[in-house]
Amino acid sequence: MITVIGHDGSPLPEPARQALAEAALVVGGARHLAALPVPETARTVVMGDVTAALEEIGEQAEKTGGVVVVASGDPGFFGIVRALRERGHRVRVLPAISSVAAAFARAGLPWDDALVVSAHGRELRRAVNACRAHPKVAVLTGPGAGPAELGRALFPQHPRVFVVCEDLGGPHERVVRCRPAEATTRPWRDPNVVLVLDETRPAAPRGWIAGARPGPDRWALPEEAFEHRGSVVTKAEVRAFALARLGPRIGDLIWDVGAGSGSVAIECARFGAAAIAVERDADSCERIRRNVRAHGVRVAVSRGRAPAVLEHLPDPDAVFVGGGGPQVVRACAARALRTVVVALASLERVRPTLDALTAEGLTAQAVQLQAARLAPLPGDVHRLAATNPVFVVWGDRNPAPLPSPPASPSRRPQTLAPLPETDQ
Ligand SMILES: C[S@@+](CC[C@H](N)C(=O)[O-])C[C@H]1O[C@@H](n2cnc3c(N)ncnc32)[C@H](O)[C@@H]1O
Repeated sequence: MITVIGHDGSPLPEPARQALAEAALVVGGARHLAALPVPETARTVVMGDVTAALEEIGEQAEKTGGVVVVASGDPGFFGIVRALRERGHRVRVLPAISSVAAAFARAGLPWDDALVVSAHGRELRRAVNACRAHPKVAVLTGPGAGPAELGRALFPQHPRVFVVCEDLGGPHERVVRCRPAEATTRPWRDPNVVLVLDETRPAAPRGWIAGARPGPDRWALPEEAFEHRGSVVTKAEVRAFALARLGPRIGDLIWDVGAGSGSVAIECARFGAAAIAVERDADSCERIRRNVRAHGVRVAVSRGRAPAVLEHLPDPDAVFVGGGGPQVVRACAARALRTVVVALASLERVRPTLDALTAEGLTAQAVQLQAARLAPLPGDVHRLAATNPVFVVWGDRNPAPLPSPPASPSRRPQTLAPLPETDQ
């Protein structure tokens, strides 16, 4: 049994003090080891290289036991408990207050509605995309992924307030409110947590689930849910298929290129993804903004002509191309990390679109979709009203293998043993 002690700067509770006093090996960050009463008799290992430290922990735990690991905040939350359990260790966890809980407490804010994301030892872009889409996000930072890098990624398109909480509970604790632009120019002390707040959005209503809200109650919304010019809007049935192939999620960035009414971008935002609507027409951009406001989501609108305008945008996970030729599709395919989905009315565009996707290394497929909707006729009868056929062409980068179904039916009828008879 390994004892894992959380440290938040406050004096250790008695069980943690006792475990430390009896320890043969104490492993932890330099600042924790310096701040705590580690007995002279105990061997200490500074947790720099986590893999090497885990090796030492494993050896000592097997030999004599008496291993204590000290980590920040709640070690069960984005902390060392996961790695110890993955190696099969049994652990006794004595947590302190997580830096995230402390940060929200310092800001005087509730946080059951906040997203908590980690950029510590991970790519920053997912954290940035979460901040683009959500009004209240706590970011656990790390080297090369701190307040300055976050500020650089969010400024100027995303007006936010940062609450940077440095060295919480430590001798250099400081809490600074600033704008993303200011965060890029100041030096920051590690460790820190950044609360990224969109104060222009109304406070979330009282919820029942912590963190991200559940997905939308409906999607592939009817065309009437969007203001559109003429009937220039992706039809609900086509949008349903496109959304299924785009797979928008929290942490993703989706481009909707040739966005028209912005219906695809808005639906992606409703799934929790960050979204950018790219549109060259000024009136359409205004219409997209009105639609975005009506749906209460965040979608950035980038006015300009693709492919040139795409050069200035951050890399997307997935792209929907509703307008633009093979040149635009190819530019999108070159940047997309996961998927490009293209909706086409003309048969002649299908081949060049497939070629544009495969030329950028995507595995391409296509389908023609046609729906016939039930339309009422006088006399309480219905006819089928056909919508225009649409080709959907899509390409995936390194598609993950799908789970294969069992080779043969494995469920044989089973004979159950009869229940023992009982006298009532
Ligand atoms: C691996 S995570 C560990 C989180 C920890 N389990 C917790 O509950 O706070 C490390 C990150 O937590 C944040 N952090 C940990 N201790 C902190 C402190 N005292 N002040 C500010 N941030 C802290 C920093 O973002 C740091 O890069």
